[in-house]
Amino acid sequence: MAQMNSAEGELQLNGVSEEMDLLHIDVETDVVEDKPGREDAACSKNVLRKQRNWERQLAAKKNKRKEEKQRRKLNREQESGTSRADPPFTKRVMKAITKERLVEAQSTGLRLCVDLSMTDSMSDKEVSRLAGQLRRLYGSNKKATRPFHVSLTDLREDSRLYRECVRMNDGFLNYTMDITEKSCLDLFPPETIVYLTPDAEEALQTVDADKVYVLGGLVDESIQKKLSFSKAAELSVHMARLPIDEFMVKKNNVKNFHSKILAVNQVFDILLTFCNTGSWTEALQTWFPPGKGYVVAPEESGPLSVPQTQT
Ligand SMILES: C[S@@+](CC[C@H](N)C(=O)[O-])C[C@H]1O[C@@H](n2cnc3c(N)ncnc32)[C@H](O)[C@@H]1O
Repeated sequence: MAQMNSAEGELQLNGVSEEMDLLHIDVETDVVEDKPGREDAACSKNVLRKQRNWERQLAAKKNKRKEEKQRRKLNREQESGTSRADPPFTKRVMKAITKERLVEAQSTGLRLCVDLSMTDSMSDKEVSRLAGQLRRLYGSNKKATRPFHVSLTDLREDSRLYRECVRMNDGFLNYTMDITEKSCLDLFPPETIVYLTPDAEEALQTVDADKVYVLGGLVDESIQKKLSFSKAAELSVHMARLPIDEFMVKKNNVKNFHSKILAVNQVFDILLTFCNTGSWTEALQTWFPPGKGYVVAPEESGPLSVPQTQT
């Protein structure tokens, strides 16, 4: 490597220094002063500031998520009508309460039978619909605070209806109700039976713990008139109709259609609500199907007709 003598070196350094002067760069300062330290400090201040910002943003996001979660929880509680002071029952607890009520009703509840002795005259479609109505009836009884003690009578294991109930209704064989091949007359003294039929003269006034109420297990697609009336007459038992004439009036409709014949589960819902509230107005208002062409009469219109006998 070529060696430079000291005079030449000094000359060259001076030249560089002059050029640096021209460029206004303070060689001395740049080289001698502690610049890397200052940069480090500025740089770490920046990093710290960015880190703090980032931490603040993270905390804000976390808070927002927490608030959002609480808001959703509050909404859910308000929708289901529960609150912190009134913690909701778990599904398991609700199931246990329902089961307990139904079991209790099987020994102390008001008595109701569905007479299934007339299904032979029904089409397969009607049998399927009846199976669906029995499912809904059981569903309503499960939801009731004071369920009925329900019996399905005259239900033979080799019948179409039995097969259809097992096929269509989940857990049918475990329903908490009596399922029997016996008839209501085999189970109860005739004088305790009140057969409900739309064709009875007497209106039902109340539901009595000493009586057994019987619904005809029928679906009226091919309208078989007075079938339950004839059945009750054949059994020589008391009969009653729902007090529709006493609490409802005809409503104008395009087809001029008016019917007082309801499905088994609809009659059952009306009875359940009446037993809970003691009010026919409320029971009929809640459950009488709007398409049947009747509405509950306004209270100020007074009694519409006086029931002939109290049942
Ligand atoms: C679809 S109805 C059957 C109607 C059928 N035409 C009949 O002969 O009664 C099924 C059952 O619900 C009950 N039901 C329906 N409407 C009723 C009403 N207005 N009053 C009393 N019971 C009624 C009766 O027990 C009846 O047998």
